[in-house]
Amino acid sequence: MARICITDAVPEDGIASLLEAGHEVVRWTGDQAPTRAELLEHVKGAEGVLSVLSDGVDEEFLAAAGPQLKVVANVAAGFNNIDLDACRAHNVVPTTTPGVLFDATADTAFALLLMVTRRFGEAERLVRAHKPWQYRTTFMLGHSIEGKTIGLIGAGQIGAAMAKRCKAFGMTIRYAEEHPMREPVRSELDAEGLPLDELVATSDVVSLHCPLTPETHHILNAARLASMKQGAYVINTARGACIDEAALVESLRSGHLAGAGLDVYENEPTIDPGLYELENAVLLPHLGSANVETRTAMTELASSNVLAVLAGKPAPTPVAGF
Ligand code: GLV
Repeated sequence: MARICITDAVPEDGIASLLEAGHEVVRWTGDQAPTRAELLEHVKGAEGVLSVLSDGVDEEFLAAAGPQLKVVANVAAGFNNIDLDACRAHNVVPTTTPGVLFDATADTAFALLLMVTRRFGEAERLVRAHKPWQYRTTFMLGHSIEGKTIGLIGAGQIGAAMAKRCKAFGMTIRYAEEHPMREPVRSELDAEGLPLDELVATSDVVSLHCPLTPETHHILNAARLASMKQGAYVINTARGACIDEAALVESLRSGHLAGAGLDVYENEPTIDPGLYELENAVLLPHLGSANVETRTAMTELASSNVLAVLAGKPAPTPVAGF
């Protein structure tokens, strides 16, 4: 029996396998996510940890857990919250949950696309504010996405799932060739790879689906935002720091960009105050994969990773290189 600590609330069905295996499962039962000090105390003595992406899994975290720790299973596709060098130094295997959340995240990206291009976020706010309105032929016109070009930065599982949705709605699919799309989906969608700068400068919508790495930090910087077509849109369900948020606010405020649909922010849960003021920004609170089925599947996969490593077997979905 091993001690397995879970750092925040997760769907209970997702940890059934840990309980069935007879492990000591230590849940986090607070109403709020733990503070840093509470987190470090909570993981003490764990052999396995189910972590979430707001946990900084770094030297301090691994040292606090102790030398018996073998696996940190992030209940997330991303792992930018994990210090991989520190994991290597502590002989800890970090794992993620790819392959189970791409449809849910693409649904969120596509919902943001429709909300921002058709002004549904703005319209909902208007109704809820009890502002007067009446049906008129020119009232609150948005733009159609049919016939427009979407430029994907990141065309892995989530990007490809977004591309399928966009194709079904009549969009032309392009992607940054630095982050290529696999076959056969590329051919099926008739998707074209372009150099990143050309992609950004020629797309009607730019949608981010890349991991956050040193290379993708501010991949949409002020210069690239300025190079976008007048009236273009930005969608971000990847990581906030892939966009220079302050520069995005300026592009939206000036009217250069027609709108942005955002699920993620540079300094979550803090959001650039300028974004709140902008009617052409649709703002979600990092809900990318947030449905019961997907979060349960993510937790089940994280649990399988913990069980495998504790049994001395290879983790099913380790971070590449582990
Ligand atoms: C969510 O953002 C995830 O990485 O799963």
